[in-house]
Amino acid sequence: MSVCLPETFYIRTFGCQMNEHDSERIAGMLVGMGMQPVEQPGAADLLLYNTCSIREKADTRLLGHLGEARRLKREQPERMVVVAGCLAQSRRESFQQEQPHVDILLGPQSLHELPRLIEERLESGRSAGAFAEETTRFSAELPRARRQGPLAWVQIMTGCTNYCSYCIVPYVRGPEASRAAEDILAEVRGLAEQGVHEITLLGQNVNAYGAEPGFRGKGDFSGLLRRLSEETPIERIRFMTSHPKDVSPGLIEALAELEPLCEHLHLPVQSGSDRVLEAMRRGYTSADYRALVERLRAAVPDLSLTTDVIVGFPGETEKDFAATLELVETVGYDSAFTFIYSPRTGTRAAAFADAVPADVANDRMTRLVAAVQRSALERNQAYVGREAVVLVEGPSRNRESEFTGRTRTFKTVNFAVPHKAEAAPPPSESFEPGSSLGSASAANGGAADVSVGDFARVLIEGATSATLRGRLLGAARADRAA
Ligand code: 5AD
Ligand code: SF4
Repeated sequence: MSVCLPETFYIRTFGCQMNEHDSERIAGMLVGMGMQPVEQPGAADLLLYNTCSIREKADTRLLGHLGEARRLKREQPERMVVVAGCLAQSRRESFQQEQPHVDILLGPQSLHELPRLIEERLESGRSAGAFAEETTRFSAELPRARRQGPLAWVQIMTGCTNYCSYCIVPYVRGPEASRAAEDILAEVRGLAEQGVHEITLLGQNVNAYGAEPGFRGKGDFSGLLRRLSEETPIERIRFMTSHPKDVSPGLIEALAELEPLCEHLHLPVQSGSDRVLEAMRRGYTSADYRALVERLRAAVPDLSLTTDVIVGFPGETEKDFAATLELVETVGYDSAFTFIYSPRTGTRAAAFADAVPADVANDRMTRLVAAVQRSALERNQAYVGREAVVLVEGPSRNRESEFTGRTRTFKTVNFAVPHKAEAAPPPSESFEPGSSLGSASAANGGAADVSVGDFARVLIEGATSATLRGRLLGAARADRAA
C-alpha cells in the first residue's frame, strides 16, 4: 500500500449493549491493523462514532460530536472520520450530503468491511461506505479488544423481524440471524479461560434465537442456555433483550433450573394499555403480560424484573397512561428504562395521527418515573439486613475508596473496603482481573482479601432506588442467589 495508515484511533459509542459489543470488535480490527486506542479525540488520527438511531435524542447528540470532528479535521486534514452503526445505515443519504467531512459510513451489518474501506479511502481519496441489509458475518466473528475484567458480552443473534410500529431496529439491523451454538460455546469457553465469570448474551430479541427460517444450527434459546450451563464453566449467565411474546415454557423452566442463569429478566412491556399495545404491534395484552410475570415469579421466586416503557405513543389517552401506571405499580419492577415516544422515519407509527403534545408526554414521564422509583426503592429496601453475593467489578464510580459489583439479581452494590492497599486499581478502564482491592481482614474479623473478579459476601446496609450500599464480609467461595 502506498499511503500511511492512521496510527491512533478514538471510538465513541452511543446506544445499546450491542453497539458496545460491536465497538469492541471495531477496536479489535483497528488494533489488528496496527493502530493504538486513545482516550481523547484530539489525540486520534481516526475518529469513529458508533451510532444509535433508536430515538431522536441520539441523532442530536451525534451531531454535536460530528461538529467537533469537523473542527479537528480542519486542524489536521488527514484525520479520518468514520460513522458506523445504525444511523450510518438509516441516514446514509443525508450524511453523504450534509457531512462531507465524514470519510467512511459503515452500517451495522458491514463492520467487517472497515479495514478494506480505510485502505480504499486512503488510496482513492474518495469517501467510502458499506450498507449490507442482512447479516452475513456476525460482529462476534471479528477480533475483539475487550475491556479487562470479569464480565463479557456474547452476541448470540442480531436483527429483529418483529416490526413493532415505533421501532427502527428491523430496518437498520436487518432480519433476525442467529449464530451457530458451537461458535457461541467456543467463545464462552475462551472467555472463561481468560477469567470471565459472567456473560451477557446479546441480541435484539434473544428468545427468538434459532427460530428464523433457514437457521443452519439446531436448538432454540432454552436449549442454548442449557448447553452453556452444562458444557462451559461460566458461573453467571444473563441475556437481553427478551420479548414477552417469545418467553416459552422451556425458558421459564431453564430460569428455574439452571444454576448459572441469573435471577433477573429484562422484559420490556412498553405500555399497560391494550389499545396502545395493539397499535404498537407487540403481540400481547396487558393480561397476557401479567400472567407471564406470575408464571415467572412462581418458577423463580427471587426474580428481579426490569422493563422498558414508552409514554406519549400517538393516540395515548390519559386512560391509556393510567393503565400503564397501574401495571408498573402492580408488577413491582426493580427498575425501568422510560422513554418519551420519538417518531422514526420509515416506521409505521411515524405516519400515525394524534401525536401527544410534548407537555402532556413530559408530565406523564414525570409521573411514570416517580412510580418506577417508588417500586425500585421498595424492592431494594427488601435487601437491607441481608447478605448478598456480589461479583466485584472494580472501583465504584463516585468514590474511589469503594468498590462496586452486582448481585445475581442485577443490583449494583457499592461497598467500602476497610483497608485499601496502596496497589488498589486505578479508577479508569484499565483494571486487571486479580488486582488487589485491599485487605479486609483487620476490620472484618479475619475475612479474606477480595479482588476484582472475585465473588464477595456483602452485608447490605442501605438502599436507594438505584443502588445498594453494603459492608464487605469476605470472599464468597461460590456464587449464590441473592
Ligand atoms: N421512541 C421511543 N422509545 C423507543 N424505543 C424504541 N423505539 C422507540 C421510539 N421510536 C424504546 C423501547 C425499546 C427501547 C430499547 O427503546 O422501549 O424497548
Ligand atoms: Fe424493536 Fe420490537 Fe424488535 Fe424490540 S422487538 S428491536 S422494539 S421491533
